[in-house]
Amino acid sequence: MQLRKELSHPIFQKISKLADELNLETYIIGGYVRDIFLERPSKDIDIVVVGDGIKLAKHVAKELGSKKVSIFKNFGTAMVKYKNIEIEFVGSRKESYSRDSRNPVVESGSLKDDQLRRDFTINALAIGMNSSNFGELLDPFNGIVDLHAKLITTPTDPKITFSDDPLRMLRAIRFATQLDFRISDETFEAISLNAHRIEIISKERINDELDKIILSKKPSVGFKLLDKSGLLKLIFPELHRLKGRESVNGISHKDNFFHTIEVLDRLCPHSDDLWLRWSALFHDIAKPKTKRFVKGAGWTFHAHNFIGEKMVPAIFKRMKLPLNEKMKFVQKMVLLHMRPIVLAEEVVTDSAVRRLLFDAGDDIDSLMTLCEADITSKNQQKVEKFMNNFQLVRQKLKEVEEKDNIRNFQPPVDGELIIKTFDLKPSKVIGDLKAAIKEAILDGEIENDFDQAYAFMIKKAKEFGLEPIDETK
Ligand code: CTP
Repeated sequence: MQLRKELSHPIFQKISKLADELNLETYIIGGYVRDIFLERPSKDIDIVVVGDGIKLAKHVAKELGSKKVSIFKNFGTAMVKYKNIEIEFVGSRKESYSRDSRNPVVESGSLKDDQLRRDFTINALAIGMNSSNFGELLDPFNGIVDLHAKLITTPTDPKITFSDDPLRMLRAIRFATQLDFRISDETFEAISLNAHRIEIISKERINDELDKIILSKKPSVGFKLLDKSGLLKLIFPELHRLKGRESVNGISHKDNFFHTIEVLDRLCPHSDDLWLRWSALFHDIAKPKTKRFVKGAGWTFHAHNFIGEKMVPAIFKRMKLPLNEKMKFVQKMVLLHMRPIVLAEEVVTDSAVRRLLFDAGDDIDSLMTLCEADITSKNQQKVEKFMNNFQLVRQKLKEVEEKDNIRNFQPPVDGELIIKTFDLKPSKVIGDLKAAIKEAILDGEIENDFDQAYAFMIKKAKEFGLEPIDETK
């Protein structure tokens, strides 16, 4: 197969010319070639050289006028940045890995040796770069056949592929999810057998793959594969624990794992926000902990939102997810995820809406989007009823926000004014007064404006036995 047309970018001409001049056998390899066939735009180009990859990199950088060449002598690789394109050069190699790390013992090898050591056949495609074979596809492991068959499979015995680098187990599942491919039976079996080896992989790399699964169109595909292979239990045991249905007196609850990944799928068309998507995964995380069977009432998961919010930091810490405002956002979503539903079940009052706006602040839209995705009932009538009520809640949210401006609530009367008005020393009563004013606004007793809040403060302070000082005396 000839791929000259796909290599029309001047960069490829330049690399080709230099490869010939230096007499180095050179190929484009891996993801870039795969993505040509998948018609996915790609900015990372991997170049493999039978010989000294770093030497070619240095010449290419000079030719392109690029000042950014990073050389990793130990790995025999070099990276050249040109505009927004990253070109990585590596010498072709045969590799064997030691059992406890991903760092390979490197030996140089032929192009075919190099292709054999790559993770999947679809990632082992190469294109010739020298003038003698420019644009020629080299596909010794039938990657093109597998691309057409939408199959993830390994160039060599998958047990070796995964034992060499266990991260590839997650990559297999991630590619299957992103590309809507199937993992071959033999490959999947090898993942299940090697799952425990994921322990040598850094949490950061695991999270990179999880993020990519979560950001795909239908993440449930990936989470089902993670579960089936035994990986989920090892990397995210709390999510795995949501699995299963228990039954008492013939009454069973839903399987909260499948519910959770369905919520995530339902969220995807409405939000690309990575952390809102993570929130979907966490929203019912405390259900196993809070599960009770109550006679007459059936299964309950009382306070699972509160307990769930508290569980988030320890899980984030263990998984090395960011312990910053992203985590706080996830906690907030977990804590509040029942509120709009409860609202939608009842008569939607202004004060309930005001309180929801106060607690959610600027994240109110994200919360509503998550809650709508959380309606997974099989009963279509029930779903429609909820959706209609949600419309009502959204409408009310808009009206109340326009009127009362609660989203970024700032008390119209602050502590300083309270101190000055009643000539107080720092004391509890100041906080009590402030809280009373906030409550009165949220309850709709007074509006969110200075005059009404001031008058309310004077009235309320009287109940505490306080009179404003007379400044004229
Ligand atoms: N590769 C591998 N084993 C890994 C990682 C990468 O064999 N654990 C090889 C594959 O041939 C892959 C290439 O290195 O195509 C480049 O890897 P990378 O840039 O990480 O991934 P891509 O396949 O390009 O895909 P993506 O950019 O979506 O991660």
